[in-house]
Amino acid sequence: MAFVNYSLHRLTFYQELHAHLTGSIRRQALHKIWFNRRVHDAMYTLEDPLIAMPEGAAVDMESFFPLFNSYVYKLCNTVDTVKFCTNSVLEEFANDGVIYFELRTTPRDDKKTGMTKEDYVEAILDSIREFEGGKIGQKTGMKTKLILSIDRRDTDATATHVLDLAILYKSRGVVGLDLAGDPLVGDINSFRPIFAKAKEMGFGITLHFAEAELTSSDEELNILLAFHPDRLSHVVYTSDVIKRLIQRLKYTLEMVISGNIQTRVDPRIRVHRDHHFKYWYPEKTNPIAICTDDVGIFNSKLSNEYYLLFKHFGLLKPELFELASGICDSIFSTKSQKENLKQQFEAFREKEEIEPGKVL
Ligand code: IMP
Ligand code: ZN
Repeated sequence: MAFVNYSLHRLTFYQELHAHLTGSIRRQALHKIWFNRRVHDAMYTLEDPLIAMPEGAAVDMESFFPLFNSYVYKLCNTVDTVKFCTNSVLEEFANDGVIYFELRTTPRDDKKTGMTKEDYVEAILDSIREFEGGKIGQKTGMKTKLILSIDRRDTDATATHVLDLAILYKSRGVVGLDLAGDPLVGDINSFRPIFAKAKEMGFGITLHFAEAELTSSDEELNILLAFHPDRLSHVVYTSDVIKRLIQRLKYTLEMVISGNIQTRVDPRIRVHRDHHFKYWYPEKTNPIAICTDDVGIFNSKLSNEYYLLFKHFGLLKPELFELASGICDSIFSTKSQKENLKQQFEAFREKEEIEPGKVL
């Protein structure tokens, strides 16, 4: 067995800023829902998630997005199943060492079960509250906030409804608005006033950005930058002009290593070392948030994503610590939450005697 010296890279303290709720549900949790339904209904025809979504099976950009509508959403479509799934996701991130978590999701209703979008968001917020007051939440102290996603294919009315929900539940922990979904569909132009209003209302803005070559012309990316984002995710297909703009405006970059490789987002990224992290990290111009995106599908926890930086890019504990602690000001929560996180990281630094450049 290969010897791994965990003291070189194991931080035990992380902040996760980019995880989609439905994409983060483990197959085992989905299987439990499926099993329960199958036991009560012999005619239940949906395939077992352990068979329909075999672990390790290839998911490219074409098969990835339809997976949600055509399959996972059919299992996670009642208040109870949404709560069950949210709880399982929170448990996993807390047990992985995440101390601050921004979970994101697209508000969803289900005509068959009668679940409304309000029910959906409330179920998630209730689960977060219950988790924070429960055993693991208390033990780990993980704090969770919610970001609502607008899907690129949404109509203006649907997107406006997402903003209305964010406003309605702001006091309960909704902190931001996201633009997500298949990068090859939708007309993003009309969303600009919605994001402008969200910004005005004090929400953080994060956008899936330059994820597909076909929709990453400078013209399209400039439209997205006019939404006044705080954070950009993926940032795969950027021209030198856009890169310079991103550097000048110092957006936080949400980077997804395993997910980008597994979905073959870019034929130039075949192995870890090809990932554009190799470009952005040495530049040191933008805070970089290492993120899992969809751990239920990509099967790589946040601690593992940091481990991959150690393994493939040679980052040791002091550098990993700088990276993980360097995004405290990028979170969408309050100033006091930022200060609290900084203190926690500082205490960890002192305890572990981490000094920049020092190999432990
Ligand atoms: P949900 O919003 O909690 O239902 O999580 C699943 C949804 O997240 C998918 O339907 C997509 O719209 C979005 N999503 C997950 N991963 C990605 C990604 O890599 N790019 C863009 N959208 C994504
Ligand atoms: Zn994403």
